[in-house]
Amino acid sequence: MAEKIKVIMDCDPGIDDALAMAYAAANSDTLDILAVTSVSGNQSIQKVTRNALDLTEFYGLDVPVAEGAPAPLVREPQFAAEIHGNTGLGDCELPRSSRVPEQENAVLFLYKILSQLPENEQAVLVPTGPLTNIALLLKTFPEVKSKIREIVFMGGAAKGGNVTPAAEFNIYVDPEAAKIVCDCGVPLVMCGLDVTTKCFLTRNQIAKLCQSNNPVAKICGDMAGFYISQPYNKYKGTVNVHDAVPFMYLIHPEIFTGENAKINVDCSEGVSRGSTLCDFRWWNYEENEINAFVLEDAMTEKFQEYLISAIYELGESKKS
Ligand code: BDR
Ligand code: CA
Repeated sequence: MAEKIKVIMDCDPGIDDALAMAYAAANSDTLDILAVTSVSGNQSIQKVTRNALDLTEFYGLDVPVAEGAPAPLVREPQFAAEIHGNTGLGDCELPRSSRVPEQENAVLFLYKILSQLPENEQAVLVPTGPLTNIALLLKTFPEVKSKIREIVFMGGAAKGGNVTPAAEFNIYVDPEAAKIVCDCGVPLVMCGLDVTTKCFLTRNQIAKLCQSNNPVAKICGDMAGFYISQPYNKYKGTVNVHDAVPFMYLIHPEIFTGENAKINVDCSEGVSRGSTLCDFRWWNYEENEINAFVLEDAMTEKFQEYLISAIYELGESKKS
């Protein structure tokens, strides 16, 4: 049997972070989730940490949760309450977990976990929120890079944005952190809007989840249902499950296509703040200057099939 991929999820749950965590938890035969760390993003650090604790317990994920940065590196926090609701998880009321976060903050905790990995072993970082914790980790403990196989992150876009015409939310919120990560030399896979907008659930699929008596399906359906009531999603009749994409890429790379690129993050104050300029002209660069594999396309139906079946499977295992 192939060895499991060791992963650490750094997230700001967040409705799609919550669905992504369900997908990851259901795939515990392939993924070894070492820890979940929280970061200010969709909601305040207190709320997203609370959600991370409640979600891990609800999904039966017995992993440590460490609380991370309360704000971006240099900018003021900016939340997405209009998309994810006041709690960060729409109208959903998850059972309140009695779990508490680790004593160490996320950056120290990440360092500890990574540096304690056995020789010759590495982990994959999967950030699905602003890149603040990861940037702090790389700057404070650069020696830890050798323990990171790759960073597969949700964020950015080669074309267009969602929070502005040029920028995607996770990068827009903390562009300085994104720049540090993009320039750090660890192999990157960018799961940006180019691919995540191909990875959606439809109104009918969400309605079926909501009607189910499978506990995980019902919660995931309710959360996605809140998401679909937002103007952009309502108009399209679909919900992009952005944050599930990096996990799905790790398990099913065959459903994705992409290209190598040199990503430059715009940290200016101008209209392109937070954009990820992807230069695909590889011939202009030395090999070590190409910093990322940028996902561009996905097989939508496969994504839907794998995500939905994982959600049901996780719920079945909870019932038994
Ligand atoms: C990203 O922004 C957040 O609102 C979502 O959770 C996702 O990580 C999409 O732009
Ligand atoms: Ca997120």
